[in-house]
Amino acid sequence: MRLVLLLKDVIYTNEFYRWKNILNCAQKYDRKLTIANSKRLFFVQNNIEFQVFVGFFMQFWIMFKRLKEKWKLSWTSFVLVFSTFAIGGSSCGYLGRKLLTLTGLESGLFYYTLYIILMCLLWPLCVIVISIPLGQFGFFRNYLRKMSQTIFGVSSKAPKPQNGSFSIKKRNLALFASGAGSNAQKIIEHFKGHPSIRVSLIVCNKPGAGVLQIAADNDVPVLMIEKKDFEQGNAYVKELSKYEIDFIILAGFLWKMPEAFLNAFPRHMINIHPSLLPKYGGKGMYGSRVHEAVIAANEKESGITVHYVNAHYDEGEHLFQATCAVDATDTPETLATKVHALEHLHFARVIEDVIEGRL
Ligand code: GRF
Repeated sequence: MRLVLLLKDVIYTNEFYRWKNILNCAQKYDRKLTIANSKRLFFVQNNIEFQVFVGFFMQFWIMFKRLKEKWKLSWTSFVLVFSTFAIGGSSCGYLGRKLLTLTGLESGLFYYTLYIILMCLLWPLCVIVISIPLGQFGFFRNYLRKMSQTIFGVSSKAPKPQNGSFSIKKRNLALFASGAGSNAQKIIEHFKGHPSIRVSLIVCNKPGAGVLQIAADNDVPVLMIEKKDFEQGNAYVKELSKYEIDFIILAGFLWKMPEAFLNAFPRHMINIHPSLLPKYGGKGMYGSRVHEAVIAANEKESGITVHYVNAHYDEGEHLFQATCAVDATDTPETLATKVHALEHLHFARVIEDVIEGRL
């Protein structure tokens, strides 16, 4: 009994705050998880076993959801992929041990070294075989290809020499911009000659926008879009797939992202906003309106927020913020210049960090 109480104490002091953190993250991560019901909240706060259970459950849930989004899979495919990993992994372990018993080796350093080597060789074979009946062959073929790219630095397909060097599949960016395009310009410059990321398309909804000239000067193709077609159906999503777009970057694009895009690019859509969100964001908060509001509220600080895009204006998960001082003499124009300088300094680097998994 004492031990149980002691354990509870330890769990309570160490785990409770950690668990609360997990809950907070989970709530931020997915609004559906918000425990709005106060009765339930009371129960949760006063029931340590429940907290620990939910804490564990949520950790796994978040991990699975992130993986599912990263791999761009439906829940059914995700379960099948996961089963392939599990069955493939177990069969690989079983086969490895069986093969080793055939050698008659005693367990020792040599035995375990051989076992590890066998595992490394058998694992890809096992998962690829299991993936066939589970209908996940396509996923695992790509998975193993990417894995070999990471390990050996080149594609597992026969490498195609290009101008004397090997080619690695580049990640393609589509920049959605309808303004002057100064951020688009900086992003294009940043990724010129980049080994694995390139700007492949500018998407614009405003004829005559400055960004169109920037696209022409840099030989980047342009897709002009219409509001009605953008908001309904997925015609433009299909259009983007022709350019094999991996990430969408919003740099001065004001329309709300429709569901078709959100579903096609989960956690692959990034926006920049000229204020320190959550302040001064939301519908109608763009351009000089943001800086006017910041000055009117006598803020001492403003800045930029780079964030993932979700179904609500300026509400996606934050990736990066940088600040600048708001001086008493600042006007919306001078503040806009300071904020633009921050955008030009950081945005492209943050995009690169996100795509390359550093953020
Ligand atoms: C930037 O201030 C950005 O924060 C906002 O739109 C503006 C675009 O400016 N989303 P530019 O067209 O890149 O100069």
